[in-house]
Amino acid sequence: MSHGKKEWFHQAMIYQIYPRSFFDTNNDGIGDLQGIIEKFDYLVELGIDTIWLSPIFKSPQADFGYDVEDYYQIDPIFGTMKDFEELLRVAHEHEIKILLDLVLNHTSDQHEWFKQSRKSRENPYRDFYIWRDGKKPKGRKPPNNWKSFFGGPAWTYDPQTDQWYYHHFLPEQPDLNYRNPQVKKEMFKMTKFWLDKGVDGFRLDVIHHIFEDPELKDNPWSWRLFPSDHSDAFLFQEHRYCQDLPENIEFVKELRTLVEQHEPPRVLLGEVLGPPERVRKYYGPNNDGLHLVFNFTFTSCPFKAKKFLKVISTIESTLPEPFHPCYVFSNHDRPRMISRVGNDERKARLLAFLQMTLRGTPVIYHGEEIGMRQARIPRKRLQDPVGKKFWFSPIPVGRDGCRTPMQWSDDKNAGFSKCNEKDLWLPVEKHYREVNVKRQQNNPQSMLSFYRALIRFRKEHDEILFGTIENITTMKKHVLTYQRTYHQQEMTILLNFSEKSIIVTKDVKISSHDLGEISVSFTTYLDRNKVMIKMKNKNELSLRPLEGIAFRGSLPS
Ligand code: NOJ
Repeated sequence: MSHGKKEWFHQAMIYQIYPRSFFDTNNDGIGDLQGIIEKFDYLVELGIDTIWLSPIFKSPQADFGYDVEDYYQIDPIFGTMKDFEELLRVAHEHEIKILLDLVLNHTSDQHEWFKQSRKSRENPYRDFYIWRDGKKPKGRKPPNNWKSFFGGPAWTYDPQTDQWYYHHFLPEQPDLNYRNPQVKKEMFKMTKFWLDKGVDGFRLDVIHHIFEDPELKDNPWSWRLFPSDHSDAFLFQEHRYCQDLPENIEFVKELRTLVEQHEPPRVLLGEVLGPPERVRKYYGPNNDGLHLVFNFTFTSCPFKAKKFLKVISTIESTLPEPFHPCYVFSNHDRPRMISRVGNDERKARLLAFLQMTLRGTPVIYHGEEIGMRQARIPRKRLQDPVGKKFWFSPIPVGRDGCRTPMQWSDDKNAGFSKCNEKDLWLPVEKHYREVNVKRQQNNPQSMLSFYRALIRFRKEHDEILFGTIENITTMKKHVLTYQRTYHQQEMTILLNFSEKSIIVTKDVKISSHDLGEISVSFTTYLDRNKVMIKMKNKNELSLRPLEGIAFRGSLPS
């Protein structure tokens, strides 16, 4: 067991690909596996070392792959098993790992088990899902008050057998019943199939939802309408009995045991929604659960040094060594990172610099590296079932805006596909002529060059990859600072969250060579890397607006 030992995934740089939107080679308007293979050089040049693929299994695509019909097959819209094997081979040749997205909580309603299950109450697969009588007297009301994450009751009535089935997400995504040991056995068998095929690990979809309260007790009332990363409550109820049961922790520990039977080491990266204390539980009591769990609190953190200080301090105190945090700013469910900071590239760079210099494994979402923006999708082109259902909501809840095609060039369809524009599964974001790979490729100051340089910087510095993190604090209200140390080598990080220059005064002292000059290892302005900068009055260091810098040395308290 490797509960404290550092593994490859502790220093990994994970890149999420949403395959539908990456690159389309057969011109059907939907990205595919061959598209990822075709763009492999791009990934290599970017410097990432691990890819997480959103689901590619056979699926009716009611929730774009998060509704799996057959876990042993690749969906034909993405390609074939041969294509997947080729992708895995190409990736491994380049020493890049591939993580699959495992949806263990629910299947599609088109999965053979569910088709069997709904046939009759006696069917051998009946108990693979959660079926109950409706509330008395006539059974015309759902068995309890649980709400679906996507709105409406979490139960759907099935007249064929006069019972209701439970689905925390869409009615097309019935929840599996893990109180039936057969279900776990089947899902572990399937997990093993992919491990044997050589995948390097899994991103685990909503892994805090595996078990439900055995008595299906009603959830308590709450005033909260929208979900947040700090509370359990939304849609006017506290989701106490339908998630985060203690049995889930036993489950992830067993999953860990399963993956640890495979060499070389594989990773389990969990999606757990909720506050940091909950995230912590899924690492297991002795760091014997999931290796990594997403921490989503950055995705809603206001752009202020003190706010980030609070989030980071909380994460660090909740997940001290040997626990290893995992920071994200966006994914296929959340608004694009740059658009949350007013499409200001300097701010997006500062956040990326923060993410990649903290203790933890960063995960970026494709397009983030070129500053892709959140798109506004006309109502008639909406695809996401949540966006369609709540199209009228004043607070956008749909997820199409962050799922638009990758912007490769300023050609038709942003170079994503040669199909007719109307056949694109989602339209491209309107700024694609300015924001695209081709335009940024050879510009040393572009966002893409910035990400390449930042990823390289991270990879080349052991303090960042393996070091401790200390002295996390703010200076002059707007400057966030911390220190990373490894084998007595210190690296100081300073991030100026203000739009004004700030001089961090006399306390700046460079431990090893206090010569009135420091050697900056990295700046988000990209213009003085590895050069000495003069410090005014010996101990004054000037940070430009929204600048982040890293240098060897320390800031005494
Ligand atoms: C979380 C996934 O990220 C999201 O896209 C999906 O809709 C739900 N889980 C349900 O599987």
